[in-house]
Amino acid sequence: MMFPKILKWTGIVLLSLTVLLLIIFGIFFYVYGTHVNKQYAVEVRPITIPHDAASIAAGAHLYAIKGCGDCHGADLGGKIFLNDPAIGLLAGANLTSGQGGRPAGYTDQDWLKAMRHGLGTNNKTLKLMPSYETAKLSDKDVAALIAFCKAQPAVNRTLPPIKTGPVGKVLAVLGKLPLFPAEMIDHSYQQPGAMPVAVTREYGEYLSVSCTGCHNPKFTGGDSPIPGGKKVADITSKGNVGKWTAQEFMTVLRTGNTPEGLKLKNEDMPWSMTAQYSDEELQALFLYLKSL
Ligand code: HEC
Ligand code: HEC
Repeated sequence: MMFPKILKWTGIVLLSLTVLLLIIFGIFFYVYGTHVNKQYAVEVRPITIPHDAASIAAGAHLYAIKGCGDCHGADLGGKIFLNDPAIGLLAGANLTSGQGGRPAGYTDQDWLKAMRHGLGTNNKTLKLMPSYETAKLSDKDVAALIAFCKAQPAVNRTLPPIKTGPVGKVLAVLGKLPLFPAEMIDHSYQQPGAMPVAVTREYGEYLSVSCTGCHNPKFTGGDSPIPGGKKVADITSKGNVGKWTAQEFMTVLRTGNTPEGLKLKNEDMPWSMTAQYSDEELQALFLYLKSL
């Protein structure tokens, strides 16, 4: 009578494990819900959004160097940028006034709330929108960016709603996937009126916010924020950057070819985005990173 007894115990162990897993999942599911449903009461400081051609051109440059198109498409009509059953279905919103586009009656305040606070019109966090990278943009820059977005033609494109899979939920709750931008923002931060474009350490620091999502806020690199992504390089003076000239740094950020003979893949290090920075902007970034 040994065999049935073993079966019985195996059954009990399997059942207990299943129940335990369900409980753990239930907890993650619950905690995930508390993050998603949290309501924020922020004060959106009003600023005037311009309409002139120079501001719109400045906004187009910002749209390019901040990589907005990677998730919202070059036409701003939105696109699916990740579709994985475990992590989820993630799509950047259609930002135009076309069908499936931004909510009807979307005001300048709503744009600012999204860009500076990471919040939707319902005052809940947007998902995966890297607003922590635009939250500190100067009034002038954020206004130009919004002016550019608003001036783009309508695109009719309805995207599927964002869904997070079980692994995506667990990673988000553990803080391994930046799914809740509103939680990563200092909502009382006072942005400067304008940041003059110049080859200064200060301007480099201002621009470098766009590198922190992957290279981390200390620029020392480490694990990728993208599950399964390539290890991120240290870009402080301690890494290769410390040995390069400004010219070499610019070549790396424009071609992906490093002086050490590495060919960086755009999927790992988005150099097709950094290629669009102006000479002055890259020199300012170099000055700042070298000083670290
Ligand atoms: C990593 C991908 C990603 C990048 C890069 C990105 N976004 Fe988004 N953005 C999203 C996602 C995803 C949403 C939808 C979030 C949601 O619905 O919860 C979104 C939402 C928005 C919204 C709110 C739209 C609405 O209907 O509420 C605005 C405005 C916006 N993004 C503008 C921008 C701009 C401008 C940039 C560049 C500075 C940018 N985004 C960069 C992923 C991204
Ligand atoms: C989407 C993630 C991501 C973003 C955003 C990003 N990087 Fe990178 N970067 C990487 C990864 C990953 C590597 C390492 C690639 C490899 O080893 O093949 C890298 C490598 C580099 C290198 C080469 C370092 C070396 O030692 O060879 C430089 C320089 C660099 N990044 C600068 C920047 C700057 C400056 C920004 C912001 C303007 C930035 N990166 C934004 C992911 C990113």
